[in-house]
Amino acid sequence: MTPGRFSPAPLPWRVEDIDFRAIDAAAAREDEPLLLLVAACSFVESAAHVYAGNLIGHFAADARISAWLARHWEPEELQHGRALRAYVERVWPDYDWPRAYAAFFADYGRLCTPEDLEPVRSLELVARCVVETGTATLYRAISRSAREPTLRALAARISRDEIGHYRHFHRAFRRYQRAERSSRPRVLRALVHRLLDERREDAECGLRHAIAERYRGAGPDPARLRAVTARIRALVRNAFPYEMGAGLLLKPLGLPARVARLVRPPLVLAARWIVLG
Ligand SMILES: [Fe+2]
Ligand SMILES: [Fe+2]
Repeated sequence: MTPGRFSPAPLPWRVEDIDFRAIDAAAAREDEPLLLLVAACSFVESAAHVYAGNLIGHFAADARISAWLARHWEPEELQHGRALRAYVERVWPDYDWPRAYAAFFADYGRLCTPEDLEPVRSLELVARCVVETGTATLYRAISRSAREPTLRALAARISRDEIGHYRHFHRAFRRYQRAERSSRPRVLRALVHRLLDERREDAECGLRHAIAERYRGAGPDPARLRAVTARIRALVRNAFPYEMGAGLLLKPLGLPARVARLVRPPLVLAARWIVLG
């Protein structure tokens, strides 16, 4: 939690409400690629305090946004990390999560710097909408592809939180956009830039460390890393809610309904290409 000014608000749900003892661990273990993806997500979520600190600094002049980031957004993201970690540790009791997270964090801390933020506030809020679209759709895909019921429910719950974050950032974007009036091409550029860039680095960094810990005894093996990553991609690709992703990405562009209908199908194709990539 960011020091000082803000106390956390009540969470929409609590990790303690989830019955991790009810997990069918043997069944869950059969979905190894999915578990590796869950572990990767748990690392990125658990590092939310770094991003939150950067963002709160960026929006320091806006008490409304910084209070929401510190009181709601950061505690909710950190809770996602705790819940996903608890899931992984229940299913793989031998998985050394703290060691894997420490290795991840040493890399991730370097990727996640205030310089990554868009200097124009409305454009940073567009970037946040892209990131929340990414997480909302990824957790929806995890929920759809999981066979184990606790993970299905947990991922659906987290996906709903991410949609809530998206809505909040989108409302803030509209507020800033009224004053800053970034042109549609600039908004589109910020959107595409974020879509192609940082998020992938986050996910890849998480996956690399999730896999490294799982196969620690076997030593580094680039071919295995590629093979496991390909299996995870295939899994996400099959369950990914492309329409939902395209709809959320289009919103900040504020296109007239007729134009939005026209560009939606190619955007769905582009999203498929990105997820396939
Ligand atoms: Fe999250
Ligand atoms: Fe989020």
